[in-house]
Amino acid sequence: MTRFKITVLPGDGVGPEVCREAVRILHALSVFYGNEFRFQEKAIGGAAIRSHGTPLPQSTLDACLDSDAVFLGAVGTPEYDHLPPSERPEAGLLRLRTALGGFANLRPSVFFPALADCSPLQRSRVEGANVLIVRELLGGLYFSQPRGFDHDGNVASNTMRYSTAEIERIARIAFEQARQRRKKVTSVDKANVLETSQLWRRTVSRVARDYPDVALDHMFVDACAMHLISNPARFDVILTENLFGDILSDEAAAITGSMGMLASATIGGAVNIYEPVHGSAPDIAGRSLANPLGAIASAAMLLRHTANMPLEAADLEAAISQVLEEGHRTSDITSRGKSQALRTNEMGAFVEQAFVAMLDRRFSYHAV
Ligand code: IPM
Ligand code: MN
Repeated sequence: MTRFKITVLPGDGVGPEVCREAVRILHALSVFYGNEFRFQEKAIGGAAIRSHGTPLPQSTLDACLDSDAVFLGAVGTPEYDHLPPSERPEAGLLRLRTALGGFANLRPSVFFPALADCSPLQRSRVEGANVLIVRELLGGLYFSQPRGFDHDGNVASNTMRYSTAEIERIARIAFEQARQRRKKVTSVDKANVLETSQLWRRTVSRVARDYPDVALDHMFVDACAMHLISNPARFDVILTENLFGDILSDEAAAITGSMGMLASATIGGAVNIYEPVHGSAPDIAGRSLANPLGAIASAAMLLRHTANMPLEAADLEAAISQVLEEGHRTSDITSRGKSQALRTNEMGAFVEQAFVAMLDRRFSYHAV
């Protein structure tokens, strides 16, 4: 019996290629256990503008609302750069996030010993780093009103607005995540300048009283940008608002060595969304060059946060580490002259093999 309905939104650029590999892994698990997952594919972003004339067709939204999880590849294509923000491919994703209600975007960034050579940072600086960025996803500059251009197009504005309730709910997610990790939250703001940040800081400090076992410190976002690359190992959970989180999570990719490695989960709403952080990468789209590991790691997050399969999630993460240890590389994580780059689907196949072997071992262990 199918337990989980997954809506897959391949989207633009490399989205379809990396989605295919994540789905292949979940499919393998499904076969192993006997039909855990059922997948249906829908259009979003530029692909949906092309096929339906809008970046988030009603049929896509309905399917997402009716599923247990959404798995998204990427949105964004230069083809539609000329459109106003509200009609661009990205607007489809932003509308979807709002409709599904997930306000907490979890973005882990982990140091893999096998990839130490790929990071632009010295090994001694990134070694042992394991940061979870908890990004507020439904508020701030991305969504607050008023916004727009004035009548002659010479002035534009956006608004950063946060309410206590919005800050409180994302803070609770961060503290709860920290409890399952190293019990430290760094709340990142710009409280020396912005009122929203002052409210943010005050509210987070108040929420922290409910989590006496978790240490809290506050940091300005500019300082955080510097510490994140000079001493990333000092962080456990970083809690921050929407735009700061968008920027810092791309920066955190330097820890791992490639944007292609980063996964994300959006939780807290009616339906969770899982997506790699790397985006559509139009420059390499359709050439089987993309790294599917960020998408596959997002599938691991789906196993953990939607399917309640923490053991299988850990197995899948271990399978990713194993293929890296074995030296398998896509072009974004190839150290010069060391190994030949794999195609997207070849990398997916290696992870699937390693993952299924782990499930086999787990299964035979339980059988005796
Ligand atoms: C991300 C992306 C999105 C964002 C875009 C595509 C709307 O950059 O998920 O980080 O800004 O949130
Ligand atoms: Mn981003």
